[in-house]
Amino acid sequence: MTDFAASPDHATIRAQFPALAGDVVFLENAGGSQVPAVVADAIHRYLTRTYVQLGAGYPLSQQCTATVDAAHAFARTFVNAGDGQAILGSSSTALLNILSDSYAAALEPDRRIVLAETGHEANLGPWKRLESRGHEIVWWRVDPATGTCSLADLEALLDDRTALVALPHVSNLLGEIVDLPAVVAAAHAVGARVVADGVAYAPHRAIDVQAWDVDWYVYSTYKVYGPHMAVLYGKPDAVAELTGPNHFFIPDDEVPYKFEPGGANHESCAGLLALGEYLKFLAGSPAESACDRDTVERAFARMAALEEPLIERLLEYLNGRSDVRVVGPAAGGPDRVGTISFVHRSKSSREISDAVDRSEIAIRYGHMYAWHLCKALGLDLDDGVVRVSFVHYNTAAEIDRLIAVLDEVL
Ligand SMILES: Cc1ncc(COP(=O)(O)O)c(C=O)c1O
Repeated sequence: MTDFAASPDHATIRAQFPALAGDVVFLENAGGSQVPAVVADAIHRYLTRTYVQLGAGYPLSQQCTATVDAAHAFARTFVNAGDGQAILGSSSTALLNILSDSYAAALEPDRRIVLAETGHEANLGPWKRLESRGHEIVWWRVDPATGTCSLADLEALLDDRTALVALPHVSNLLGEIVDLPAVVAAAHAVGARVVADGVAYAPHRAIDVQAWDVDWYVYSTYKVYGPHMAVLYGKPDAVAELTGPNHFFIPDDEVPYKFEPGGANHESCAGLLALGEYLKFLAGSPAESACDRDTVERAFARMAALEEPLIERLLEYLNGRSDVRVVGPAAGGPDRVGTISFVHRSKSSREISDAVDRSEIAIRYGHMYAWHLCKALGLDLDDGVVRVSFVHYNTAAEIDRLIAVLDEVL
């Protein structure tokens, strides 16, 4: 049990986020989260005081190089990369496209690629394209009744031709944490690599790629209280099998740069790095300390503890209505994050979402780019689901405000 005695109270946590001082209730955090002032200030400082190009000899340039290097180091601590790499890019979609292009060049013909139907298109489309290169794409189907992809079904699809398994750690629509270590063990048993999309997991729990033994793991920093960029972790032996797309004269083993054509966004690196300050604050770590692994884990344990009662509250309300069906697990618990989707018996998701939006509560409707999942679940692809997504800075009062509006709308 984590001791939160040194951690600040909820009001003090919220006060770190300038955007939360306004009237809007942000319940669309699976789309993108707000940033603490330390992150915004670091970006402003970088742009106004040290905005020069990296790699030159003058001190300001060296300072910028150090910031970008430190952002990579922070990302490695954040995912617990060990000897692995943290590749920075403009988005998870962009990084996964780079990864699939690299595999396209490296894979021998006629390999099998297994895709979880629960996935966001960012971790499906880039792999589906490899079919045109003579690889076989096999779908790991979702059970429409449970909304899960079963391990037994995966094992039946794996063979010695299987090169890759791509799946979401958490579906951005269903909100359930998948047993990633079990998937990795099954894939590794046939020599396949695992590409996990952690975008919908990362805002809620500490990432631990070493504990999971996963080969590739991607998440978007703009959904995790940071600037608009993304991180792709690569295990050392998986990285060594590929050649990144950066210029020919950059050595193949100059990783992560070989996988960062054009380099990472410099001011965003400054912002990402500053997130460490917020994590220390949340964890109750001394301000003068470094943001180490222990801090990351304690900060996320605090986030999960703050989020849990909100999940229970909203699920209790939705489950209590006979005209609503939760899409995803109807129960809370340790394997559930605060991304909750539902459909109504007669009202469209759009109608509901529009009405809620008018009350200055930001939510969303649609297929959320989990197009294949919505199709498999028999949902209207234009209308999809209503999705309410919250994180640790949201409050019970905000959920109650949403419930009051839903009571009227539904
Ligand atoms: C689960 C999931 N994967 C991938 C993505 C794509 O992330 P990005 O916008 O960084 O490309 C999203 C974006 O919403 C997502 O929710």
